[in-house]
Amino acid sequence: MAEKILVTGGAGYIGSHTSVVLQEAGYEVLIIDNLSNARAEVIDRIAEITGKKPDFTQLDLCNSEDLHAFFDRHPDIAGAIHFAAHKSVNESSRFPLKYYHNNLAGTINLLQAMERANCHNLVFSSSCTVYGQPDQLPVSEEAPLKKAFSPYGNTKRMCEEIIRDQAEANSLQAIALRYFNPIGAHESARIGELPLGVPNNLVPYLTQTAAGKRESLKVFGQDYSTHDGTGIRDYIHVTDLAEAHLKAIKRLLKKENKASAEVFNLGTGTGYSVMDIIRTFEKVTGVRVKHEITDRRAGDIEKVWADPGKANQELGWKARFGLDDMLRSAWKWEQSLKE
Ligand code: UD1
Repeated sequence: MAEKILVTGGAGYIGSHTSVVLQEAGYEVLIIDNLSNARAEVIDRIAEITGKKPDFTQLDLCNSEDLHAFFDRHPDIAGAIHFAAHKSVNESSRFPLKYYHNNLAGTINLLQAMERANCHNLVFSSSCTVYGQPDQLPVSEEAPLKKAFSPYGNTKRMCEEIIRDQAEANSLQAIALRYFNPIGAHESARIGELPLGVPNNLVPYLTQTAAGKRESLKVFGQDYSTHDGTGIRDYIHVTDLAEAHLKAIKRLLKKENKASAEVFNLGTGTGYSVMDIIRTFEKVTGVRVKHEITDRRAGDIEKVWADPGKANQELGWKARFGLDDMLRSAWKWEQSLKE
């Protein structure tokens, strides 16, 4: 019998790619998602790619009664991967309580339901935002956590702490994965990132500009202390991220974890500037991206890239895809949205 893995937020960007990888590895995937920022048809797309439809329940983690009932109906879930959360940095600054309520209550309710159901393995979707602007680069898991620039970032740090406390006090075994900047899409271009409205993040804005949906890409600041003055990030292919989640849940199921609460950075270890991204996109697609330099965006850090050594050695995971692949797949996905 295939082991059952619960994926919260499994209809979303990283959740859907992870569900594909889990099904391909032989796990039975149960998705819960409230569809607040995702479409139900993503479930059919996962079925199209893998040949198997995941079990889908529309459910809000803030509703603990529904969640308990869900675990009662599925008493044999081996582990959970928790993506479900609000994720807009910008919106979180305007509506902090919406973020604190949804992201914290959702996580606490999930932990309570798991404890009640004797489900002890959890992989949590965290972010490099917990490091703020690190004093040393590349940034390793040892770096001190800093006050986040946004309520969204704060919820990631706070959830990590709640999970760690629960793991210390109970039988929970948890891995928090700190993603750097996820971009790109599944090679089939049947699933990808679907930002609602005007995108906040660089790559969706760039591909929409290239597709003629946006007038011009704004490059936020050219006066940073970097090789070309624009901000540097560690971009990582969403398929690489998905594979890291598979490794993490397997580590817990096989009891190979070295502590009840572990953290791993997920990045390539290489930083690229905004101008590097634009030029590489133009090189691999042959499509020009109209862009203009504007002021810095409030809250942005100058540069960050990962030391992924711990994930490489202990999880046995290494990013396979380079920037060309990431941007090519992002463009293929953008083009598929026109059809
Ligand atoms: C943000 C969040 C991060 C989250 C990620 C993906 C922070 C500090 N970072 O990362 O936690 O995981 O989004 O949701 O909270 N840029 C432009 N023009 C644009 C958009 C972006 O020049 O139109 C630049 C930014 O200034 C930055 C880089 O592109 O240098 C990447 O920005 P973005 O894609 O928004 O991601 P982050 O802000 O790094």
